[in-house]
Amino acid sequence: MEVIIKQGQEQASLLGARIVRNVIERWRPAVLGLATGATPLRLYAELVRMHREEGLSFRDVVTFNLDEYCGLSPDHPASYHAVMCKALFDHVDVAQDATHLPDGNATNVPEACAAYEQLIREAGGIRLQLLGIGHDGHIAFNEPGSSLASRTRIKTLMNDTLHANAGAFGGVEQVPRHAITMGLGTIMEAETCLLLAFGKSKAHAVRGMIEGPVSASCPSSILQHHPKTIVILDHEAASLLEHRQYYLDAYASKPEWQRFE
Ligand code: PGA
Repeated sequence: MEVIIKQGQEQASLLGARIVRNVIERWRPAVLGLATGATPLRLYAELVRMHREEGLSFRDVVTFNLDEYCGLSPDHPASYHAVMCKALFDHVDVAQDATHLPDGNATNVPEACAAYEQLIREAGGIRLQLLGIGHDGHIAFNEPGSSLASRTRIKTLMNDTLHANAGAFGGVEQVPRHAITMGLGTIMEAETCLLLAFGKSKAHAVRGMIEGPVSASCPSSILQHHPKTIVILDHEAASLLEHRQYYLDAYASKPEWQRFE
């Protein structure tokens, strides 16, 4: 894993956006795996700025989101479909039929999950998968205990996750208990993974992911087996890392062209 520690969330998000931009400019089509949650919002805002002010085009971009709640209509304001439209899709020139999310209302869930995986394969696989991390170490909705080889499927959300997402629903009781999520095996097939984490509340999960044993108890730790994962942290999220100073020194000593800046 490449661990990059920036002073704050702002610098980390801008660096993340530059990495996404490089992929968009390099590949036709550029197949992006996208994430929701609070973490990538500033990165998306920067991509929108790049589109408006610097002509970054999304015409050849294809997107696959990690997950979607079950039982919400796509226009429910808390559905990840609506969240993505508001944060990114409505503000750039991406083709509507090039954006994909799992179908949280599928009547035949296993079939819909297999079809989602098939679509990713037909697109040529994901070049860059954006990720956040949950307090319990989850990525997408792969809660602790998820098979490290799991594929897209329905998952029951843990209490901690329900509470973390309650704000968007006006109370924990309103949060759907189930979601369709890419599996850890699905995520591991992305060519590059780019995970962002901010704030003290993520520090424990971040340590487990980077320095803990690879274990289903901390699902993000599977990324230790991924050949190209970039982790961008702010100082708080990095605060519990045993080798924090090493990561800082290693990144600072890289030649400029390897620093994505
Ligand atoms: P957050 O969620 O970006 O809202 O912190 C991340 C996650 O739970 O994966």
